[in-house]
Amino acid sequence: MNRTVKAAVAATLVAVVFGCAQYGGVSTLRGADVAASDKAPETSKEYEGKKPGLQKPIARTFSTQPPLVPHAVANFDEITVAENQCLECHSLENYRKKNAPKMGDTHLVFSKDGTKKMVTMDRYQCNTCHVPQVDAKPLVENTFVGNVAPKQ
Ligand code: HEC
Ligand code: HEC
Repeated sequence: MNRTVKAAVAATLVAVVFGCAQYGGVSTLRGADVAASDKAPETSKEYEGKKPGLQKPIARTFSTQPPLVPHAVANFDEITVAENQCLECHSLENYRKKNAPKMGDTHLVFSKDGTKKMVTMDRYQCNTCHVPQVDAKPLVENTFVGNVAPKQ
């Protein structure tokens, strides 16, 4: 080995040792190595809320937020092209007799023949935006306060 190479190796070693010493006390927010896979959260938390009709709306945290689902959804069938149980209560035809909140006008378009309003396909998969809640502790503490007064 000639001198230059020796000097380069020595310099690299010093840099590595120094780097490790510097890095020693730092840890990530989630308390695991960056490359480590996420620990699975506690399993089988129940969704909150019981039978539709007996729940209170959940306060919105900003004006354009899709409202959170305040009632149980666990017993509903999966939404398919042929069937969407959410519409049995929230559609324009049914919301009055089911005493359920009506979908916003943003959700509705005229049918092809222009005779009636129906849910637009952009909004057909309700649970992309409207999600039920579980009582989960926030992973990281935060002080966020919404800008909308609770809607009753
Ligand atoms: C059996 C009737 C029924 C069915 C089926 C139903 N809902 Fe509801 N939903 C209600 C009623 C009634 C309320 C008002 C709160 C209450 O009284 O429980 C409500 C409230 C909501 C709200 C809150 C609205 C707001 O302004 O805060 C959302 C969002 C919602 N439902 C979404 C859904 C979705 C998504 C589905 C399908 C997975 C669904 N609902 C199926 C009856 C129903
Ligand atoms: C792309 C996202 C999205 C999808 C999909 C969606 N919604 Fe909404 N929904 C919203 C947003 C945002 C609001 C609040 C503002 C508004 O009315 O557009 C809302 C409002 C509502 C409300 C409360 C209306 C009010 O005036 O307070 C009900 C009930 C509701 N949606 C039911 C449904 C049902 C049932 C479906 C499925 C057929 C559905 N939504 C699909 C985003 C969505």
